[in-house]
Amino acid sequence: MILADIKIDDVARKVILHAPKNGFFFVIDRTNGKFISAKNFVDVNWATGYDSSGRPVELPAARDADQYESIPGPDGAHNWQPMSFNPLTGLVYLPAQHIPVNLSPEKSFVQNAAAPGKLGGLLGGNIGFVFNPPKSAPFGRLLAWDPVHQKEVWRVEHVSPWNGGTLTTAGNLVFQGTADGRFVAYDAANGTKLWERPTGSGAVAAAATYVVDDRQYISIAVGWGGSYGLTHRATEYQNPGTIYTYALGGTAKLPDFVKYRTEGLLQGVKYDPRDIREGGEIYVAAACIACHGVPGVGRGGNIINLGYVSAEEITNLRHILFHGPFRDHGMPDFSGKLTEGDVGKLQAFIQGTVDAIRPKSR
Ligand code: HEC
Repeated sequence: MILADIKIDDVARKVILHAPKNGFFFVIDRTNGKFISAKNFVDVNWATGYDSSGRPVELPAARDADQYESIPGPDGAHNWQPMSFNPLTGLVYLPAQHIPVNLSPEKSFVQNAAAPGKLGGLLGGNIGFVFNPPKSAPFGRLLAWDPVHQKEVWRVEHVSPWNGGTLTTAGNLVFQGTADGRFVAYDAANGTKLWERPTGSGAVAAAATYVVDDRQYISIAVGWGGSYGLTHRATEYQNPGTIYTYALGGTAKLPDFVKYRTEGLLQGVKYDPRDIREGGEIYVAAACIACHGVPGVGRGGNIINLGYVSAEEITNLRHILFHGPFRDHGMPDFSGKLTEGDVGKLQAFIQGTVDAIRPKSR
């Protein structure tokens, strides 16, 4: 949220500017909490707008549909990546997005019941809904938004959702890191791209600017993450978290960029092909798929895809699953949740899936 002093109908107002997940841009009087206005900054399908008292005018489908693809989706039209306000242009620079998810209720939902084949069931919870193929298209864009007239002034479309926060300067620039690994400066008035450098990874943080000994610097902490970043990516690179600092006349060289592993598909883990199907159900129920993706497909996001680990590791999978060495890194402990028999089925699914998609040699 941003505190700003803006003129609305020629009256100076002290306001809070807020663009939450639900797709509406709010202007609120911060001296008394009164609602001033709200306007959708992306297409939304759950409400037609807000009434003068600040309540949403909902569409009935948003409440009672058996299957409802909410737009914006659960990741929001704007997530935590910060927006910025420039008093010189009067505009807010907002990382907007849509990540389609089409859900229907899980009718047989039972709290904490193990539910083979249902996402997360074996981790102790049944999340209570079913994923259907989405109909809307994803997008990520940088919006310049006029909070007084509640309208878009310019936009830049990005290749993927989940781009970085924004920084705007008195020199009328807007800086943003992108999902596809670029750090970009735009003209704050019209969105013309003025400068760009590669970052070796997707960026989600916003940049910062500061002056030391009369020299102005701009720094950005680059790294790819968040729940979306765990399983998706929009760049070939996976550099470690890196802070880049720029100044006019700077001469330092960029570091070498590390490419995602794109060869060395898993090979040689022994399995019984009859176990593949059941192994797949466990792979979903234990939510392996949410963090590691489909083995050998997509190569994962922040967390490694299991189609590209060593055969030794998958052969010794039980050591990783039960009180394993990666627990401090965020890998759950499956002790008491998976059996020894489940491990063999998981191995069959992981190696069997990779074998099924491995390009045939001629
Ligand atoms: C909540 C996310 C999450 C879930 C669910 C999860 N993992 Fe992991 N897993 C991780 C993380 C994080 C690591 C550590 C990655 C690292 O340190 O590089 C990891 C590491 C691993 C490794 C070692 C990979 C390597 O880096 O060499 C294997 C194998 C593995 N997991 C298998 C599984 C299997 C099989 C399942 C399902 C039964 C599973 N994981 C479920 C997050 C998860």
